[in-house]
Amino acid sequence: MKINYQETTSDLATRIDIHNQYGGRDIDKWMLEVLPLKQGMKILDVACGAGKQCTSFHKHLDGNCNITGGDVSADLLSQAQERNQEIGSPFTLMELNFNQRFPFIDDQFDLASCCFAIYYAEDIPFTIREMHRVLKPGGVLFSSGPMPENKQLFYDIIHEATQKSIPPMPGSSRYASGILNSMKETFSKVEIEIFENPLTIDSAEPFLAYTRASLSEDRKLWNDLFTDKASFEQVMTRITEVAQRRIEKEGKLVMTKVVGGFIATK
Ligand SMILES: C[S@@+](CC[C@H](N)C(=O)[O-])C[C@H]1O[C@@H](n2cnc3c(N)ncnc32)[C@H](O)[C@@H]1O
Repeated sequence: MKINYQETTSDLATRIDIHNQYGGRDIDKWMLEVLPLKQGMKILDVACGAGKQCTSFHKHLDGNCNITGGDVSADLLSQAQERNQEIGSPFTLMELNFNQRFPFIDDQFDLASCCFAIYYAEDIPFTIREMHRVLKPGGVLFSSGPMPENKQLFYDIIHEATQKSIPPMPGSSRYASGILNSMKETFSKVEIEIFENPLTIDSAEPFLAYTRASLSEDRKLWNDLFTDKASFEQVMTRITEVAQRRIEKEGKLVMTKVVGGFIATK
């Protein structure tokens, strides 16, 4: 059976909002600090989603750059297009399926970015080789994704509520291992930067909204915990009890996002 790891776009928006509201640190600011960005750069953002990274690069370089964003989701691309139009359409946005050969000739871009997406690729080494191919010699690939210790509290609460083991996550279970190794095999140098963002939450509701957006029943990944809407709601009730008990005891929940930024040079 082919498992669909992809989440819905509203789930993603919910989780981004909760990060923005309860996290103290800004991941885009960190990305801009760790990357060797220069005016005039030609940038490809692979799996650009609604255009978050395209917008950050554009602002940081005062518009003095050439940015292409590609994604497979028509819905997210149209959100990116809205953002793009609001700022005078500086980006080229296009449909790009990273499971297929990219529609670019070799040695084109100074920077390729692929944020929170590489683990959705069907053949990760292939997608990494495509990003390598389209980079100029000396060009840089930036990839971000969850490290194994990411949001431990979230998994601890689910485990306490269900007494079941947590299924391997497509991101955190292999990002720092298989995916990093694949980048090391393809690129001449890979550096690792770590971003930690503790989300401090003092009532159960935002944690539950985050949990719903992560576990929503269409994510087949969690089939061991629930199989239909009714069993999903039962699990959510138990998770609510555990989260509330912890808040009563400790006054807050602290869930730390731990993200790895892999900076690979061609
Ligand atoms: C978690 S989102 C990240 C989006 C964006 N980079 C960000 O950080 O806001 C994962 C993205 O991967 C994209 N994606 C999934 N499969 C893809 C594929 N085969 N080709 C291109 N993009 C894909 C999704 O459409 C989605 O935009």
